[in-house]
Amino acid sequence: MKIGLIGLGNMGRAIAEHAVEEGIEVVVYNRTTSKAEEFVKKNPNAQFTPTLEELVSKLKIPRILWLMVSAGKPVQDILFGNNGPVLSELLEKGDIIINAVNSHYKDSQRDAEKLAKKGIHYLDVGTSGGIEGARTGACFMIGGPEEAYIKIRSLFKALSYEHKGYAYFGPSGSGHLVKMVHNGIEYAMMQSIAEGVNILDKHPLKPDLVKATEVWNQGSIIQSNLVGWLNKALSSNPNLKDTPAEIGSLGTGDWTVKEAMELGVPVPNIANAVFNRYQSRDKESIAYKVVQALRSQFGGHTSTERPSN
Ligand SMILES: NC(=O)c1ccc[n+]([C@@H]2O[C@H](COP(=O)([O-])OP(=O)(O)OC[C@H]3O[C@@H](n4cnc5c(N)ncnc54)[C@H](OP(=O)(O)O)[C@@H]3O)[C@@H](O)[C@H]2O)c1
Repeated sequence: MKIGLIGLGNMGRAIAEHAVEEGIEVVVYNRTTSKAEEFVKKNPNAQFTPTLEELVSKLKIPRILWLMVSAGKPVQDILFGNNGPVLSELLEKGDIIINAVNSHYKDSQRDAEKLAKKGIHYLDVGTSGGIEGARTGACFMIGGPEEAYIKIRSLFKALSYEHKGYAYFGPSGSGHLVKMVHNGIEYAMMQSIAEGVNILDKHPLKPDLVKATEVWNQGSIIQSNLVGWLNKALSSNPNLKDTPAEIGSLGTGDWTVKEAMELGVPVPNIANAVFNRYQSRDKESIAYKVVQALRSQFGGHTSTERPSN
């Protein structure tokens, strides 16, 4: 099998290296050409192309293109943009695009419909497992035209966790929907781990955080990749003193909450995790000042008051 891989960021590089290792022929393209050249130097079994046109010309029919760029506009530019030749123009009936990016599932539904008019198959493939998973075996949640999925099922099998971490969910959008909800769960799980660690950190008994996260991953109920990654972070960066307290986000948790609201489904834990991220970015928020100002107005309360034990 031969694939064209677009986007050599953290995830794209790892997927491409894994594919080469699995004996898949890989042709890479990246907006910043030097990164693709560097990749091929390190992985001489892969080929590099400086343009999308050349990438497409190097593939066998039906062509298989794997998108691993940032979500949103970059995906739209590569599929339909007007800065030079784009995939919707370069590809032909029967070709397959794998969107392994965290796109919104409704964008993927819309794009699949547009591409289907040209006979191009578009698979929306939620990808999980982080960079490590992409390198050694990821988890793929797949939606889109079933005939395309069946044609390249072996590719997902080859690149998935223990060759079993892939599942087909049905019509366009369903892969990215399952991945969006997965990310919402991930937000809440991380928030919950953070709250527990915060208790231990503040406790007068001062249990060792590295030891706690290590033992939690030895057969406990909360054993998980997340606890393992936290243990790694705490081991190399004691008390996370070099980690900023501001939490970034690419929005998939927010989408999950919006979807739940449209359906009338309660998701208080996921919503709390999303709002906690906003809060982390706004330490001087007037929201805190409003509450303290009101306490001061009605009761003369100060901001340094604490309960007496
Ligand atoms: N990191 C993870 O753990 C993880 C896990 C699952 C899914 N994902 C998803 O996978 C996708 C890639 O993530 P990543 O972590 O690999 O990101 P990354 O390291 O930031 O890499 C982004 C890639 O997108 C390319 N790109 C950005 N804007 C572009 C544009 N306008 N046109 C063309 N190419 C553009 C970049 O090219 P340049 O080199 O030219 O900048 C780079 O190759 C994202 O959708 C992310 O949500 C990430």
